[in-house]
Amino acid sequence: MFALDIQGMGKSFKGKKRQVVEALQGLNLSIEQGEVFGFLGPNGAGKSTTIKCLMGLIKPTYGTATIMGEPIGSVASRMKVGFLPENPAFYDYLSAEEYLLFVGGIFKMSTALLARRTEEMLKLLELWDARKRPMRGYSKGMVQRVGLAQVLLHDPDLYILDEPMSGLDPLGRALVKNIIIDLKKRGKSVFFSTHITDDVEKVCDRVGVINKGQLLALDSVDHILQQGIEGYVVNITTVAGLREESFVTKSDLQIFIQRAISNQCLIEKIQPRRKDMEAFFLEIVAR
Ligand SMILES: Nc1ncnc2c1ncn2[C@@H]1O[C@H](COP(=O)(O)OP(=O)(O)O)[C@@H](O)[C@H]1O
Ligand SMILES: [Mg+2]
Repeated sequence: MFALDIQGMGKSFKGKKRQVVEALQGLNLSIEQGEVFGFLGPNGAGKSTTIKCLMGLIKPTYGTATIMGEPIGSVASRMKVGFLPENPAFYDYLSAEEYLLFVGGIFKMSTALLARRTEEMLKLLELWDARKRPMRGYSKGMVQRVGLAQVLLHDPDLYILDEPMSGLDPLGRALVKNIIIDLKKRGKSVFFSTHITDDVEKVCDRVGVINKGQLLALDSVDHILQQGIEGYVVNITTVAGLREESFVTKSDLQIFIQRAISNQCLIEKIQPRRKDMEAFFLEIVAR
């Protein structure tokens, strides 16, 4: 069973002047259990539209999808996922603690488990000291952390996060990255959207690039980075003791090394020079 299985899903909106916006066009995508998947695309690409369809917040115009085997839009599918919306907004007058207790109730957690998990989450996300204060007084970073707390609270197997790192300071970004890495270690599945290539490079197994409602590329991060090797920077020390650095193309590497050895040079370092995720992304979106 796939964690997430999207089959030919599309969504069109009626835009200005009765124009139709094809926000999502025939998306086919399956996410394995235990996989961390980055849904990468510029603003307006259709990421949030996809996620809203998956969460049953809007209905796809055509196509279907399942979450842990359950059809989207069903209560059963919602129970199996932790969801972080793009711009979380919570009840201003509730405290973080009250809100988590409310969320846990919806997920039908037992009183004892909910009390324990609420405390754990408030501590993990550094909200413990502020737990009794109404959320209207929280900073943007704190609100995002409440969002993450409610995502993790019922310990689901699948996480759907809409731009979890955007708008956060470096500390906040690192926190989110570490949470995702930790979920992966625990065998959980994560599907998150972003427009930041670096986030994908650091935490994802696979990436899908979406632009103008269409999935343009789908590949493993390792493969992309491996394919992107343009050549090698080689550092050697010659017999005379001179240090030299050369850029050697992929096809010349063998000969270069052989020549260096036969000239009794010492090979100090060979480093691949590669295109990164950003170059990959820009190339695809430009095409
Ligand atoms: N409710 C809506 N009505 C009309 N157009 C919409 C609506 N929601 C999204 N869109 C349009 O659909 C496209 C995709 O939007 P969205 O999925 O939010 O992109 P992303 O999350 O990748 O930035 C955009 O052109 C956006 O303007
Ligand atoms: Mg969005």
